[in-house]
Amino acid sequence: MSVHAAKRRLTAVDIKSRKGGMPIVSLTAYHAHTARLVDKHADFMLVGDSLGMVMHGMETTVPVTVDMMIMHGRAVVRGSERALVVVDLPFGSYEADPKEAFSTASRVMKETGCGAIKLEGGKHIAPTVRYLVDRGIPVLAHIGLTPQSVNTMGGFRVQGKDENQWAALEEDAQAISDAGAFAVVLEGIVEPLAARISAAIAIPTIGIGASNACDGQILVLEDMLGLSPKVPKFVKTYANLGDMIDSAVAEYATEVRTRAFPAEDHVYAANKKAASGG
Ligand code: KIV
Repeated sequence: MSVHAAKRRLTAVDIKSRKGGMPIVSLTAYHAHTARLVDKHADFMLVGDSLGMVMHGMETTVPVTVDMMIMHGRAVVRGSERALVVVDLPFGSYEADPKEAFSTASRVMKETGCGAIKLEGGKHIAPTVRYLVDRGIPVLAHIGLTPQSVNTMGGFRVQGKDENQWAALEEDAQAISDAGAFAVVLEGIVEPLAARISAAIAIPTIGIGASNACDGQILVLEDMLGLSPKVPKFVKTYANLGDMIDSAVAEYATEVRTRAFPAEDHVYAANKKAASGG
């Protein structure tokens, strides 16, 4: 099925069926008006916990809360009608055990209307993925560079540079696929390893800094639009909205200070008084 022909919102099952087919297009979205713009073009939108860093100025995703994810998730669902909306479960809201994960994921789905959740982790989180999928919650997994583990990884580091790390990551991908996730994000993984994982597992791989060998791609919208002050090497900048906003705001400031704005066109006139006298 061509995704552009879809009359209904895409589901996790639609995304899973695209394994090995036309590459899957995905971007993050955090609010209604960008969701509206992305919805036309993407197969799924991710309300990523990267919103903590991109929208709220946090240094990592670790402080992001479930309430924040729900607020942004609702906005993205309201602003879209076609693409599948996936909402991240934030750090500390699902790792303890599968029951905790179910309680958070079901709340996120009920309160946002999203069609799936995402969580980070490989082999160790596979039993949780199975538990959620068996109870009606579609799961997008995320392995490789997992930002919620920044404190144990010692920074945001590319994964698989040494071949002796490959087996563990391949086992992670296989475990997640076997547990029933509908797709898996591969973040910051060297190209040959991303290619091996993509060829080996039954579900689509969605790359971010993991090469063209994946079944689809995702980027943080603000990064590819030139709105982020610093972006990783794997980001291609498709527009320079940061520069455009800077010059628009500078022009506005000058026009306010010189009283060139508001001009005639931007002012409400009062009704003309009826001619008096008699
Ligand atoms: O939080 C996020 O935006 C993500 C993507 C970068 C995959 O996890």
